[in-house]
Amino acid sequence: MKTEITKILGNNLICDNIFEIVVAIDIRPLPGQFYMIKGLNGDYLLPRPISVHDYEDGVLKLLYRVSGHGTNQISRLKKGDNIQIFGPLGNGFDVKLLKGKIAVIGGGIGIAPLLYLAKNIESQNLNIYLGYKDDTFCVESFEVNCDKLTIVTENGCAGKKGYVTDFVNVGEFDTVITCGPDMMMEKIIRECVEKNIPVYASLEKRMACGIGACLGCVVSTIDGNKRVCKDGPVFSGRDLMIRSENG
Ligand SMILES: Cc1cc2nc3c(=O)[nH]c(=O)nc-3n(C[C@H](O)[C@H](O)[C@H](O)COP(=O)(O)OP(=O)(O)OC[C@H]3O[C@@H](n4cnc5c(N)ncnc54)[C@H](O)[C@@H]3O)c2cc1C
Ligand code: FES
Repeated sequence: MKTEITKILGNNLICDNIFEIVVAIDIRPLPGQFYMIKGLNGDYLLPRPISVHDYEDGVLKLLYRVSGHGTNQISRLKKGDNIQIFGPLGNGFDVKLLKGKIAVIGGGIGIAPLLYLAKNIESQNLNIYLGYKDDTFCVESFEVNCDKLTIVTENGCAGKKGYVTDFVNVGEFDTVITCGPDMMMEKIIRECVEKNIPVYASLEKRMACGIGACLGCVVSTIDGNKRVCKDGPVFSGRDLMIRSENG
């Protein structure tokens, strides 16, 4: 892991509010790891955590949604501008554990870390489910990196209509992986745990340091509190303390 100031090779609008930033990085990250990034343009202090979306031949791609001040400032950076980037951070997915028939389920910008993961899974039976509110993105990249792709939009403008969780039968799979809105992940984890199917979730929490020092990103697990930045962001669903249906 190291901090670099590096020139941006591209920062492109993918669709409404979603951008892909491209930088050259020599250390190969693991799928599921993330970087703390910050433009040198803005008036914000803390870098923002963004997952590895893709990595090939020294070129790192990060896919991000503009959701507040920091990501808005990052979206204004242009090719050739400098960026501060620190990483790779976190544990990532252990792809050796991902065998047999696998479901990868992503929702919204939670699909960001799943492309590089899909590229690194060796299973011959990789089923990917992507849920979007309306605009779809990165569909073609996923299509060529899995055996079966299911697209779901809330308003039915592309693929099936509804929530992605309505179209997955986790009981069909040997292992399930998920990243997306908390409610989506909670539903999937609960179903998998009930059916005794291994499930891994990549979690998001607001982060300050990204290296385990500030305890700002703690989640409850069966082994006590864990830091999402250092002990995660990937956790076994079985270890997470999921809220009950009644809150
Ligand atoms: C390990 C990790 C990996 C991530 N990977 C990606 C990624 O690949 N692409 C991407 O678009 N986003 C990713 N995120 C979320 C991203 O870091 C936040 O959206 C970003 O930090 C928000 O910063 P901001 O200044 O734009 O928004 P702020 O002004 O700080 O907040 C705007 C809104 O975003 C919410 N928010 C802030 N931080 C987070 C957070 N960490 N998680 C969820 N909601 C948050 C706030 O509650 C608020 O509603 C990741 C987060 C983590 C922890
Ligand atoms: S962000 Fe500081 S401990 Fe995780």
